[in-house]
Amino acid sequence: MSRTLDHLLDQNVAWAVGKTRDDPAYFRRMAEQQRPSYLWIGCSDSRVTANDVLGLDPGEVFVHRNIANIVHTSDLNILSVLEFAIEHLEVEHIIVCGHYGCGGVRRALAVERGAMLDHWLQPITMLYRKHRDTFESLASDEMKLDRLCELNIEMQVRRIAATPIVENAWGRGQNLHLHGWIYAIHDGFLRDLGPHLSSTEQRDTLCSIDERVRNPAEPVSALRRQAIDAFAAALPGSLGLDGCGYSECRHDPDNRS
Ligand code: CO
Repeated sequence: MSRTLDHLLDQNVAWAVGKTRDDPAYFRRMAEQQRPSYLWIGCSDSRVTANDVLGLDPGEVFVHRNIANIVHTSDLNILSVLEFAIEHLEVEHIIVCGHYGCGGVRRALAVERGAMLDHWLQPITMLYRKHRDTFESLASDEMKLDRLCELNIEMQVRRIAATPIVENAWGRGQNLHLHGWIYAIHDGFLRDLGPHLSSTEQRDTLCSIDERVRNPAEPVSALRRQAIDAFAAALPGSLGLDGCGYSECRHDPDNRS
C-alpha cells in the first residue's frame, strides 16, 4: 500500500482547477471573510457531510461535528464554536442534525462499557436506561435505535438552548433559530424533527424530554411536506389537514399534533 497520499493531492489540483475554470472569481470570493448563515452540529460519520446534504458551497455553513452530535456543556470545543458562530459570524440558524443508524447511538445501547467513548455517550445511555421499558416495547432493535437517534437530537437542541451563549443572544434580541433534523443515509433525505426554538419562552414551554419519549415527534421530510401541501391545496378541508393544520403543527415548539 502506498505511504503517500498523492492521489488525494492530485484530486485536489483537479478540483481547484475545475472550480476556477467554472468560476474564475471563486477562490478570490472565498478568500474574503466567511459569512455563513447556518451552524451545523452533526455526527462525525463520514457519510453525513453538511455541505453535501444541504447542497451548499464552501463558505455557506459553519460546521461542528462529533460522535453522535452531542452537546456537552463542559466541552470547550463546542462552546467555542457556538460563541464564535453566534457572536462573531452572527449565524441565524443552528441545526442539530443526527442520522438514523448512528453507530455512536448504537454503542450507547451496548452492554460493553469502559472506553472513553462510553463517557462521551453517557447522556444517551442515561436516557435509554431511564425509559428502558418504553424503548423495549418497540417492535425491533432497529426501531429502538431509530427512536433513540431522534430523541438524542431533541435532547441536544435543548442543551444548546440552555447555554448562556444562546440565552444572551436571545436576551439582546438577536435573530437565532434552533432546529432539530435527522438524516437518512439510505435515501439521502433530511427530516425535520423539531423542536424549533427562537426564544427562551419557547424553550421554557417545551414538554419534558421524558414526555417526548412517550410522545415522539414525527419526522417530516421536505418531500413529504410538499406532498401534504399539494393535497391540502387540492382538497381543502379533507384528509384531516385543516384544523390541526400541518403548518401550525410545524411551528408549535412542542411539535405535537
Ligand atoms: Co453517527
